[in-house]
Amino acid sequence: ADQPIVLGFETSCDETGVGIVRGTELLADAVATSVNEHARFGGVVPEVASRAHLEAMVPTVHRALETAGLKLGDIDAVAVTAGPGLAGALLVGVAAAKAYALALGKPIFGVNHLAAHVCVDQLEHGKLPQPAMALLVSGGHSSLLLVPDVATDVRPLGGTIDDAAGEAFDKVARVLGLGFPGGPHIDRAAREGGDPDAIAFPRGLTGPRDAPFDFSFSGLKTAVARWVEAKQRAGEPVPVADVAASFQEAVVDVLTRKALRACKENGVDHLLIGGGVAANSRLRTMAVERAEAVGVRVRVPRPGLCTDNGAMVAALGAELVAAGVEPSRLDLPADSSMLI
Ligand code: KG4
Ligand code: ZN
Repeated sequence: ADQPIVLGFETSCDETGVGIVRGTELLADAVATSVNEHARFGGVVPEVASRAHLEAMVPTVHRALETAGLKLGDIDAVAVTAGPGLAGALLVGVAAAKAYALALGKPIFGVNHLAAHVCVDQLEHGKLPQPAMALLVSGGHSSLLLVPDVATDVRPLGGTIDDAAGEAFDKVARVLGLGFPGGPHIDRAAREGGDPDAIAFPRGLTGPRDAPFDFSFSGLKTAVARWVEAKQRAGEPVPVADVAASFQEAVVDVLTRKALRACKENGVDHLLIGGGVAANSRLRTMAVERAEAVGVRVRVPRPGLCTDNGAMVAALGAELVAAGVEPSRLDLPADSSMLI
């Protein structure tokens, strides 16, 4: 039989994503973002995000259908991010998905945002060999997940105990007077002549007694801010490229080290990296280098699929259909603190 066509909705943060897949084939990935509306606040403002989702939702659905060359009547199932994320933002996507599912008389699947980040890679690189390890790093999350089966069994091994990795990039960029979101600016500054060994910034939670798979970036962020302030107080110029490169090196060093240790301890030889920070050029390079040395294959979706989007939700929806998982009820709740 033909693979099911799934319409996916993602509104957990500041991206309104509507994607369409047929099995593991990507048909459309329409994304509207309110990132510019948040820039002057230096972070996502929940109420602003919710309103932007509301305004962008229906046009984004139409754009996705147009790209795929499909009509609503062609859709076989609906999937939506039910959590975790911003409560009001999630509600908009969940309400929209329910409305489409009800109107079309099709099943709806409420899915976990993190599992969707893992699943999206299949649209680009084909079936994910499982068990796999997933390192998800974005402005909202930093998690290590053991993935025996992306549709039915995703297990958290650890996560950040304070700031998310992307949040640390954003805050350090602000200290350096770079734009928001900060990740791409730091990445670029580091590449343009930054020395990653110029300053020895701390690697959080890497001591022998620390939780092996948890992350902490708030101490690092504070260390960078103190270092920059000291320079400024002394009336010396701040070597922005060196600070960016040294900070980035500290983050990427910890992320790759812990992810590969998790692979080793769980006998896993495929590492998937996702989330907005997966766009980081140093993370990609270091992960591949270190993984190759220990026989682990790295998979990183292209940047547009790493950041939040609807295709990832549709991809997981298609997996759930294929696995014969029961659809959600039409009164499924949005759950802002959903665990994996
Ligand atoms: O996945 P995403 O678009 O949204 C969520 O936060 O869920 O991730 C955005 C985050 C921001 O913190 C941004 O600074 C970071 O991803 N980011 C990067 C890079 N591109 C985006 N961080 C480091 N290097 C990059 N090249
Ligand atoms: Zn995300």
